[in-house]
Amino acid sequence: MVVGGSLRVPGDKSITHRALLFAALAPGESRIRGALTSLDARSSARILRQLGALVSPLRQGAEVTIRGVARFRRPTASLHCGNSGTTARLMLGLLAAHPFRAVLSGDASLRRRPMKRVTDPLTAMGATFGGPDPDRLPLVVKGGILRPITWELPVSSAQLKSAILMAGLAGAVPVAVREPAGKSRDHTERLLRSLGYGVAEADGWIHFEPSGQLQPLDLDVAGDPSSAAFLVGLALMANGGELRIEGVGVNPTRTGFLDVLRRMGATVTLENHHDRCGEPVADLLVSPAPLRGTEVPAVEIPGLIDEIPMLAVLASRAGGTTIFREVGELRVKESDRLALIAENLTAVGAKAVARDDTLTVVGTGLTPKGSVRTEGDHRIAMAFAVLGRVPGADIRIDDLACAAVSFPGFLETLDHATGRRR
Ligand code: S3P
Repeated sequence: MVVGGSLRVPGDKSITHRALLFAALAPGESRIRGALTSLDARSSARILRQLGALVSPLRQGAEVTIRGVARFRRPTASLHCGNSGTTARLMLGLLAAHPFRAVLSGDASLRRRPMKRVTDPLTAMGATFGGPDPDRLPLVVKGGILRPITWELPVSSAQLKSAILMAGLAGAVPVAVREPAGKSRDHTERLLRSLGYGVAEADGWIHFEPSGQLQPLDLDVAGDPSSAAFLVGLALMANGGELRIEGVGVNPTRTGFLDVLRRMGATVTLENHHDRCGEPVADLLVSPAPLRGTEVPAVEIPGLIDEIPMLAVLASRAGGTTIFREVGELRVKESDRLALIAENLTAVGAKAVARDDTLTVVGTGLTPKGSVRTEGDHRIAMAFAVLGRVPGADIRIDDLACAAVSFPGFLETLDHATGRRR
């Protein structure tokens, strides 16, 4: 397998969600170019329409226009977040500041994911939540006038941090949040700053004091580094060639996987650095390289949380052992990713063990063969699809369509990178 050429990845999922949510609460017309059009992004757009914003259809290559409203209107039906944890958690923050009852639901995977970590601080701010299980969707949220809050997060999570910042913004009250070890992605803070708000950081605390009406956005979304990671993985496992991935977001809270890959022996070059609305962007250049195992400590995990499936697959082809420490958060992603990574690597003939919060992968030179169970988890499906491109590999994946959750056109992009025709 040889890689070559230049390609782009779809727009950043995290930035797209945030841009849509902010735009929906900014009276006037916002314009977003390069937005992700995947199923998750569509879940956010659909819900914002139910709440009164006019959001144009999310179509690949088309600018998204949003006519926002100063306050959301009470929805007449429940708000279905599909598979999207970011939609659910960030919406909870915005709805906490609205004086009506709304029901938030999601697909079977999302209904298994913890929500109390979000509803606890929002309850302390003054919102109320009900439902059959206070830690799970479906939840009935009743918002209203909010109180300021100072909150130490139990886990480093951008969704949780952003839910509180969103509540502060929509409720016009100051909030202060602090994460434990390791900084999660800071797109919300950057977007708020680019919209003219003051967000101060000191001693690990983030202080946000909202003032004034949210203004419409005019935004270009960077390519998603988490999607680019699959192509970086593909290029590293190839037998020859060089791949250029253009216009990828290289926000330092997202590029931890590149640091780990460099430690493992990869050379990934960044060129053509520029800025897109407060977010650094660059082209990534990657060539095949033999990799060696490494240790990934807890402090690095928040900066590469979504890249662990791909990193674990690469570790299975590396020399030696790779250890990911304190990756318990993977158990509450779209699937129990920790268990599924170990199960599927073992199923295709590699060696991997998930014990407590640690993932250990031992590299092997064997050709990967076997069946992969995704439980509909897009990142598991994509990581193993990349492994399936290793020469001689024979990997059957039970659901590859789920890649559309975050990466429309994933298979076509893999084909393009490897010169295959469909
Ligand atoms: C996201 C934050 C991360 C990440 C998810 C997107 C975001 O989740 O896994 O894909 O946009 O804020 P956590 O904040 O729960 O770690």
